[in-house]
Amino acid sequence: MLYDANPTLEGIKTIDESKQGSVFYKESTGATPGLKHFYIESYGCQMNFSDSEIVASILGDIGFAPTRNVEESDLILINTCSIREKAEETVRKRLKAFEIIKRNRPDLKVGVLGCMAERLKKQWLEEEKLVDLVVGPDAYRDLPNLIGSAEDGGRMVNVLLSREETYADISPVRLDSNGVTAFISIMRGCDNMCSFCVVPFTRGRERSRDPFSVVAEAQDLFEKGYREVTLLGQNVDSYKWDNPENGEHVDFADLLEMTALVNPELRVRFSTSHPKDMTDKVLHTMATYENICKYIHLPVQSGNSRILELMNRTYDREWYMDRMESIRRILPDAAVSSDIISGFCSETEEEHQDTLSIIEWSNYSMAYMFTYSERPGTLAARKYPDDVPEDVKKRRLNEIIRLQTALSLRNNQNDIGKTFKVLVERDSSKSAADFCGRNSQNKMCVFPKSEGIKPGDYVMVKIHDATSATLLGKLA
Ligand code: 5AD
Ligand code: SF4
Repeated sequence: MLYDANPTLEGIKTIDESKQGSVFYKESTGATPGLKHFYIESYGCQMNFSDSEIVASILGDIGFAPTRNVEESDLILINTCSIREKAEETVRKRLKAFEIIKRNRPDLKVGVLGCMAERLKKQWLEEEKLVDLVVGPDAYRDLPNLIGSAEDGGRMVNVLLSREETYADISPVRLDSNGVTAFISIMRGCDNMCSFCVVPFTRGRERSRDPFSVVAEAQDLFEKGYREVTLLGQNVDSYKWDNPENGEHVDFADLLEMTALVNPELRVRFSTSHPKDMTDKVLHTMATYENICKYIHLPVQSGNSRILELMNRTYDREWYMDRMESIRRILPDAAVSSDIISGFCSETEEEHQDTLSIIEWSNYSMAYMFTYSERPGTLAARKYPDDVPEDVKKRRLNEIIRLQTALSLRNNQNDIGKTFKVLVERDSSKSAADFCGRNSQNKMCVFPKSEGIKPGDYVMVKIHDATSATLLGKLA
């Protein structure tokens, strides 16, 4: 059995490890004379990173340029995540560190953005006076006003959630960009009410963005040299938009097609799909267009139907397997990845075994894996005791990670000898003699550089070796 394959843990990262605390900056890192500067750190999901680019655009309009040097900044912002307790602790530590810098720089303003804003505004703003600004994810248009008042000595807060705000008209300033791949938010909020999840409370009701603004953003990126866009939403399959002029209905499959038609040289990805909503229409659209990448992030969360019901996922094990079978039938070359939670309320040893078996059956190319972390205010926090002991949650998580690592490795070894079309993204992090880029299945491929090839080019790479995280190849 795969489980005993003695895998290493190499390359398997949780979202927290891989994405937390990225500092955004522009290529020019020196201070621009005459301009004010902001420094921003982002935590959590890609949605949050995408929001930071909207914030950068709004700040640019009032004369703030990005910097990656805290010391030269006039404004420090942390774009926060509250999905797990650990993410909250990390942000708290950062705020304490900024408090020390602020002691010698009374003019320096510190603000908290994003998902933690609503829950912690009172504590950080009023009680501990750690920050000058607290701004929720739907209130970024108010930043110029709030910053102005903070500069006059106020402690400012706006955490109002909106039913309409999609920032559709704001052209994001691409931060920390490789100039090849970019994210486009297509919707905000979430209406699903998974019992473990805080997102519906921190990000509010689901709303979809005007599809023509999405296509225009993709077109603009393509003209600037970008070759891949990822359409982002908490649940992209429930994207829906009705044209107020002619009543025309646009669903996610339609939006995917509209984006794919921008240019055959522009790759389109998307995330995240929900098993209850993912339609065969979306799969057929993916099959029709070569430039829609054959990769689906389809979080299962648990492989046991009773736990899925407690999680309020509104599908069961059989439904999930049916969706996977549709993917295998319509898109035989597609890779599928997942999110998995170990030790949800009342989960038994047998139910945990169901999660292991669905992971093995699904043969995921990779997964983000977590222990359950109770979040205040969620359905689960109100209804079910968090009764699986921490050491049991961790042991189950380790079993999940070991299995997935073995699957990822086997999966990647199966690619040895194959040739993939790869979009060159950047230098490999391990060696400046190599480039890296992903294939359609979202697998990172590393290969030696060659004369005349640059980021943004498509190349054919023949794979000769693999780890659980990376394919190694040569230009074919
Ligand atoms: N505890 C642990 N993991 C969680 N996730 C969401 N909420 C929690 C929680 N309370 C995970 C889910 C989700 C991913 C983004 O984060 O797996 O799909
Ligand atoms: Fe974190 Fe969820 Fe907010 Fe993203 S939407 S930042 S994952 S809490």
